[in-house]
Amino acid sequence: MLIELDESHRPLIHKVRDEAGEWLSTKGTDQYRGGLDMAQVHANIDRDFDEYQFVGWLIGGRVVAMLAIIAPEAEFWAPEELAEPQTYISRFFVVEHGKGHGADLLRAVIEQARAQGKHWVRLNCWSTNTRLHDYYLAHGFEYVRTCNIPGRMSGALFQMDLRSHS
Ligand SMILES: CC(C)(COP(=O)(O)OP(=O)(O)OC[C@H]1O[C@@H](n2cnc3c(N)ncnc32)[C@H](O)[C@@H]1OP(=O)(O)O)[C@@H](O)C(=O)NCCC(=O)NCCS
Repeated sequence: MLIELDESHRPLIHKVRDEAGEWLSTKGTDQYRGGLDMAQVHANIDRDFDEYQFVGWLIGGRVVAMLAIIAPEAEFWAPEELAEPQTYISRFFVVEHGKGHGADLLRAVIEQARAQGKHWVRLNCWSTNTRLHDYYLAHGFEYVRTCNIPGRMSGALFQMDLRSHS
């Protein structure tokens, strides 16, 4: 079941971000690596949590996957793109891998966006992590382009056109 997260879930977001870092270190990718300032990472999560809605996938009373619905980032998208009706996702994490919980949440968020009359679901992700890109492609997204902005490693842009994709 799709739910809106509240203050009681804030610690869980921080915990899964830490666990994702450990998990990714076994995946042969530089995602979330390379001397990141973890205090800043967690401060950024808090900033997003204060500003935007996080949603979760609830099974048996437990949140098993979560993501943030944020404003599209102006440094990555053109003004025309920013102006389009869209759901923009970020901070996508599962508590446990290999169960499809993330995919279930993603599907529910896409359906919600469609029901709200949005034209697009969009996201940016780690530029060099081709396995992550493959994940989004396998879940119906198309690759848009990669933006190389100094200091931002998450410039690979993906989108799903809700008007053509069912
Ligand atoms: C992305 C995510 C939420 C998807 O959850 P899910 O649908 O339940 O899928 P799983 O975690 O079981 O992963 C499915 C497959 O995608 C791969 N995958 C997912 N995210 C990946 C990543 N960041 N890097 C490399 N591979 C990744 C998994 O290794 C797995 O591959 P396999 O089937 O060959 O074992 C979850 O994998 C996750 O929390 N990843 C780490 C954080 C992250 O990268 N979030 C996206 C930020 S844009």
